[in-house]
Amino acid sequence: MPEAIGGYFELELRKGQHPYPQAVAFNSARSAFKALVLARNLRRVHLPVYICDVMQDVLCGSCVEVLQYALSERLELRDFPVLQADEALLFVNYFGLKADYIGEVLTVRYGRQLIVDNSQALFSAPQAGVATLYSPRKFVGVADGGWLANAPADLPQAEISSSQARFGALLGRLEDPPQHHYAMFQSLEQALENDGVKAMSPSTARLLDSIDYHEVARRRMDNLAQLRRRLDHRNRFTDWPAQPVAALCYPLLVKSAETATRVRAQLLEQHIYVPSYWREVLSSPTSPPIERDWAQCLLPLPIDQRYNVDDMNRLADAILQNMGKS
Ligand SMILES: Cc1ncc(COP(=O)(O)O)c(C=O)c1O
Repeated sequence: MPEAIGGYFELELRKGQHPYPQAVAFNSARSAFKALVLARNLRRVHLPVYICDVMQDVLCGSCVEVLQYALSERLELRDFPVLQADEALLFVNYFGLKADYIGEVLTVRYGRQLIVDNSQALFSAPQAGVATLYSPRKFVGVADGGWLANAPADLPQAEISSSQARFGALLGRLEDPPQHHYAMFQSLEQALENDGVKAMSPSTARLLDSIDYHEVARRRMDNLAQLRRRLDHRNRFTDWPAQPVAALCYPLLVKSAETATRVRAQLLEQHIYVPSYWREVLSSPTSPPIERDWAQCLLPLPIDQRYNVDDMNRLADAILQNMGKS
């Protein structure tokens, strides 16, 4: 059909370009992962224990064996599994802070058998030839979407997904306080699990092309730097990259599960929302102590582009007040 000329306007969006135009675009990062694993005919993949369930769930029923590996206190591999030709190892660039380790250690050791999960590291460029996943909605206001950089050439073309029914929570947050639409946000996230492996919808693709990524990255760097100035002395996590990065969050690792639960609840009363990564780790009795510690004691503090240094100071004041001297 020829393209329409005239008629009513679509949602008006700036025309720019997202950071990974060579990547293959999917409806989610988990779909990108599944498509990659199937296209490469992998028999076995190694996943960290410390990751969200959906990355393992997406391979259910696909005959691909999943082995889990443990992390060190620096969120690096405790041991290096030896991989056969039909295996791969996925590593998460945690909070966007592990790019140096990926480049200097994992890429050198595993080469193309490494899959980098940059779902938490939108601004971390892929290593040459290394398959790399992105989940842009963890950084910007879209309802879905995933990218696979350095995809195999023979990746089958997936059916195009539709995001029209998934805009409710995004639009709601423009008009009302976030708590009014949080339940809808959660059910839309849940529903993504049933979407299957699809290509990114045209609406999400257009929205992702309309964003000023330079500004997003700059704000995140500034906000992270401010929280570092205010909170590093109370943080058990100390393994910061040498260069400033546009991270996902400020990972505040507090001393105990009780402190984390108490501070999170007190912040909630002040309408400061702090997510949890990943409670599901606690439901497995075999999860190692370091992963349990992270799942219980981490407060991933928001540093995103909606906020400035004054907001970061309000956040830091609230944290320090609620942590007390404990
Ligand atoms: C580290 C990591 N990888 C992958 C995913 C899956 O991303 P998506 O929801 O886009 O499939 C998540 C989701 O929470 C994640 O935290």
